[in-house]
Amino acid sequence: MADREYNVVLLGAPGAGKGTQAKMLSSSLGVPHISTGDILREAVANGTELGAEAKGYMDRGELVPDELVIAIARERLGQPDCKPGFVLDGFPRTVAQAEALGGTLEDLGREPLTVVNLAVDEDEIVRRLSGRRLCRGCDGIYHVDQPGVESGAPCPAEDCDGELYQRSDDQAEAIRERLNVYKQQTQPLIDYYGERGLLVDVTGEGDPEQIAERVLQVVRG
Ligand code: AP5
Ligand code: MG
Repeated sequence: MADREYNVVLLGAPGAGKGTQAKMLSSSLGVPHISTGDILREAVANGTELGAEAKGYMDRGELVPDELVIAIARERLGQPDCKPGFVLDGFPRTVAQAEALGGTLEDLGREPLTVVNLAVDEDEIVRRLSGRRLCRGCDGIYHVDQPGVESGAPCPAEDCDGELYQRSDDQAEAIRERLNVYKQQTQPLIDYYGERGLLVDVTGEGDPEQIAERVLQVVRG
């Protein structure tokens, strides 16, 4: 259970480590981790109407239309487990989404946001994304640099017997498109939140545990 309200947005390029950090932060703070990418991938895997609509955009590395993603985030943030706060990962990523989030939080009467921008060099991003593998069972995030990590291998986590796979958008062409889309549509949010005094920059390079400590310090204030 959280000791106070923590409303956090993790901002950063594809592969900056949003998912990796959001998992750790959510467990340290006792608030839910909300990844619009994970919600959309689950919809695709379950063959829902939302999944069918989102799949093409995601495979090409483009953004899913604002109205769909805004509706998902609004519905999720209104659920009771978000009362003590949330760690948002991958939302907002356009100015329209940031404005919608502001409106939702105002409607819910919530404390202001802390927006953490994870900064990572572009060559490192491409290295991370092309080597990333995920677990179908526990959603664990790994990299082929780690021993035993490869598509089809068993998950390295002790209590999981899931299988590792590569995301369909972690292919060279989709990675390039995701980085272009990030620069054009998401990077402007750095200024958007900076101008509102809500943004804190944290380097996303180095040991993930040390990054997590810095992020936690920033969020706890
Ligand atoms: P989404 O799932 O959000 O993907 P993304 O933004 O491209 O980010 P990633 O998940 O690829 O990277 P990450 O920052 O989480 O890094 P990770 O921790 O995994 O979105 C996917 C798609 O869904 C979008 O393209 C779009 O189509 C759609 N979508 C989602 N949200 C949307 C929205 N709001 N609006 C519209 N469309 C939306 O780490 C990456 C790798 O690096 C891993 O291998 C990891 O092990 C490694 N790593 C992590 N930290 C470190 C470290 N410190 N040092 C070394 N390696 C590290
Ligand atoms: Mg992610």
